[in-house]
Amino acid sequence: MLDAVEQNMFAPMTYAGVRRPLEAAETLPPFCYTSDAFFRREVERIFMKAWNFIGREDRIPKPGDYFTLEFVGVPIVVVRGQDGVVRALSNSCRHRGAVVAQGEGSCKAFRCPYHSWAYGLDGALLSAPEIEQTRDFDFADYGLVPLRLETWAGFLFVNFDAAAAPLTEWLGDIPQRLASYRFEDMVCTRRKEYRLACNWKVYVENAMEAYHVPTVHRSTLQRQKGPHATKQPTRGEWMALWKEHEGSRALLVGDTGFPFIPTLQDQAARGSWYPLIFPSTMFGCTRDCMWWLELHPLSAHETRLIVGSCFPRATVARNDFEETAQRYYKRWDISIPEDNEISDIQQRGLSSPFARPGRLTHLEPLVHDLANWVLDRVLDAA
Ligand code: FES
Ligand SMILES: [Fe+2]
Repeated sequence: MLDAVEQNMFAPMTYAGVRRPLEAAETLPPFCYTSDAFFRREVERIFMKAWNFIGREDRIPKPGDYFTLEFVGVPIVVVRGQDGVVRALSNSCRHRGAVVAQGEGSCKAFRCPYHSWAYGLDGALLSAPEIEQTRDFDFADYGLVPLRLETWAGFLFVNFDAAAAPLTEWLGDIPQRLASYRFEDMVCTRRKEYRLACNWKVYVENAMEAYHVPTVHRSTLQRQKGPHATKQPTRGEWMALWKEHEGSRALLVGDTGFPFIPTLQDQAARGSWYPLIFPSTMFGCTRDCMWWLELHPLSAHETRLIVGSCFPRATVARNDFEETAQRYYKRWDISIPEDNEISDIQQRGLSSPFARPGRLTHLEPLVHDLANWVLDRVLDAA
């Protein structure tokens, strides 16, 4: 028999407190961050249908360059073809299913490590040893399964749902609102992976509120003063904070860095944007660079984090790039582990059988929005 919690896990009435306006709202119940059933529902209704961010196109600049990843249990190979086009393919051999490509690198074709079936960079089956006596075998029927992949300004997104609307619809007005950063002219200069012992929502919530900054980053980022970050109106599957400030937010106070991006306009020229592209991709867009936080949910309580750092091509071409970039990397290498650690600490407390829904402050509107966005997708009809 199911216990009461499991029975009502997807019933709208269970979440009446989360559905109230921010001032009166409760947080999501702790089981939303710990339950395998809730996580499976998120995978099925959110991650299997969303445009999921998987990194930058400049990671694979030349034909034959590829990288692999596993996203919510789906092995994927992302490869640039001879025609220069980046494709995502299901990384599962059409013979008996082995993963065909591993890690990252450059190749002319993918050879399955099990029985050597070989596939072209576009996924087409090229050869299959000893297949001659197999009746009615058509090579055209046994290519690697293509996955939907679309790009925006060098950012790659995959979608597992053949019926999903195009990426541009998902992104709404973000390309236009952040156009003056010229992300298409940026280069990713560093990519760093971490393994988090927390639910993906714990990490997104942390990135989307500045309430924790005076505590968690008290001796690091807290020293960057300025007014509170404020929630911005958005259209599409994203939301954002914007903060007005001087200087760059990607440096610690007292450090000097690169010239500002010359094309910045309006709010981008006066502060920093912190968008969340649903469900789980966060950008930091500041005056001289951008960084991203890419999450791959592994289970209810484990998440892979990838942090990418991007600078304008003109900045990367400077003689002092490597030396000066170290000051930016230092800032991320201090602040990101601070967020990682507090997220693991939060998950431990949320996992207690005595954990209960909490309340929110006026500084956490996006925590509330994320909870409601998730509920809109995972709950059963009323
Ligand atoms: S499983 Fe790939 S060749 Fe057999
Ligand atoms: Fe933080």
